[in-house]
Amino acid sequence: MNAPILDHSCDGIEELDNPLPRWWLYLFYVSIVFAFGYAVYYPSFWFWPGTSGWSQEKQWASSPVVRTAAAAPTEVSLVDLASKPETLDAGKKLFMSNCASCHGNNAEGKIGPCLTDSVWKYGSEDQSMLESIRKGRPGGMPAWGSFLKPDQVNSVAAYVHSIGNTTATPANVTTATPAAPK
Ligand code: HEC
Repeated sequence: MNAPILDHSCDGIEELDNPLPRWWLYLFYVSIVFAFGYAVYYPSFWFWPGTSGWSQEKQWASSPVVRTAAAAPTEVSLVDLASKPETLDAGKKLFMSNCASCHGNNAEGKIGPCLTDSVWKYGSEDQSMLESIRKGRPGGMPAWGSFLKPDQVNSVAAYVHSIGNTTATPANVTTATPAAPK
């Protein structure tokens, strides 16, 4: 080591003026070039979207977890469910133990409205029916979404669907929220 000694010392400790090692220097230059390329290719700085088209959002959307969640059917078809006897059976049992007390053993209506007629306050489409059961309705219908498992809600909804619209005229229109007199 014949490097010159720099012109300062601290408690007798002196510093040599060695050149930076070649490998270190080249690595340094390479990293600058790499950083430049990276900044051009990927989104960098607030104004630059990058030439690659990569975005966090796209990356997220393509992750396996999100893809399976999107692919899974979010809603069930009550017609499909009601075509399976075992689902209807399970649904009927659930209805008897959870719903009959208010809606009647044959869903003819007691505290809760009749569910076999064609009168649907909140609609008889799959979505509306499932929502009535899952989230409850303000006129005294409890929310079952946290008491019943999702497939139990589906079965009982399928059962209600299967008996719905089977009596043409309202058999018993006692509901907790009678229509306001006009
Ligand atoms: C505590 C009594 C009670 C129980 C138990 C109950 N319901 Fe209800 N349900 C009601 C009342 C009251 C309404 C009417 C709510 C309103 O008008 O806002 C209703 C409304 C509904 C509706 C909507 C009807 C329409 O006209 O749109 C459906 C569907 C329904 N219930 C299904 C069920 C099912 C399935 C169960 C069992 C899991 C159940 N209910 C248990 C009282 C009850």
